[in-house]
Amino acid sequence: MVALREMIDKAIENYLYEKEPETLYRAVKHLPSAGGKRLRPIIACLACEAVGGNVMDALPFGVALEIIHTFTLVHDDIMDRDEERRGKPSVHALFGDATAILAGDALFAKAFEIASYTRDDHVAKTILRNLAIMSKEICEGQQMDIAYAESDSIDEQQFMEVITKKTAKMFEHAAAGGALIGGGSEEQQEALREYGRNLGIAFQIWDDCLDVIGEDIGKPVGSDIREGKKTLLYLHAYTHADDREWLKCYGNPEASDEDIRKVIHLFEKVGSVAYAKEKAQGMAAAAKERLAAVPDGEAKDILMEMADFAVKREK
Ligand code: IPE
Ligand code: IPE
Ligand code: MG
Ligand code: MG
Ligand code: MG
Repeated sequence: MVALREMIDKAIENYLYEKEPETLYRAVKHLPSAGGKRLRPIIACLACEAVGGNVMDALPFGVALEIIHTFTLVHDDIMDRDEERRGKPSVHALFGDATAILAGDALFAKAFEIASYTRDDHVAKTILRNLAIMSKEICEGQQMDIAYAESDSIDEQQFMEVITKKTAKMFEHAAAGGALIGGGSEEQQEALREYGRNLGIAFQIWDDCLDVIGEDIGKPVGSDIREGKKTLLYLHAYTHADDREWLKCYGNPEASDEDIRKVIHLFEKVGSVAYAKEKAQGMAAAAKERLAAVPDGEAKDILMEMADFAVKREK
């Protein structure tokens, strides 16, 4: 795992070789070199190995996913008005919105160049098409995420659609794409796709919990509350809290730290945090079940652990 992570870090560094214009490429490299968990490339490489492939073959694809992920973070922080990411100032906080938008665009384009280095041309073509479809779906999810911030509430089905598109799709493609590159059967690719989807949903619900109860998560706590994000915690509290006072702070960017603390307290008191955590744990368990179709081995074991990690992590 450590070796795999190091290999991914090195590959990211090697692929992002451009230097001029200097400001643009400093902005481009800011987040990739600020760390991050590298979950998507790790899953892609492990899925490849789990079906009998060579990890190295999935590396360009994995790095491409991480770079697309980074692009979404750069733009997401502009949209969510967040000034901190991976424990550092976000790209727009350091370089301004205009350069951050461009750095995101450059990362996005770069990812497709990197993915095109996938060995087999036929596989590369499928991978590129899938990355394009995935990227479009992330935009759809992000747009719904923004739009729903303006509505009083949404139902759980709408919520699931948002997080599936904005987050789970990337995990789905990581696992299925890795299996495709590794030469896995249709059945294995499908099982890994479902693994990724369930894990991704679990991951985002847990992320929403961390936004409320996390400490030192490398990004601002309470951001979803200030931005009015319709998370599962909100949905639960909306139907379970008798007191409606908290709704005045929800979605108010000017809410004080004290206001935010009150909303967090309410989420805990009415059981919204517990509800969301349980839901996330259920999705992680469902992800693990899908691995039954994958041969036993070290790669599969780590994929199992990653599903647990998604709903245990503290950042
Ligand atoms: C953050 O993803 C964005 C979400 C989908 C919640 P990660 O938590 O994987 O971010 P890094 O890459 O580790 O910083
Ligand atoms: C993550 O949503 C989705 C994408 C970045 C595509 P969030 O807005 O919840 O992610 P964080 O909390 O800023 O990492
Ligand atoms: Mg967001
Ligand atoms: Mg955000
Ligand atoms: Mg979040």
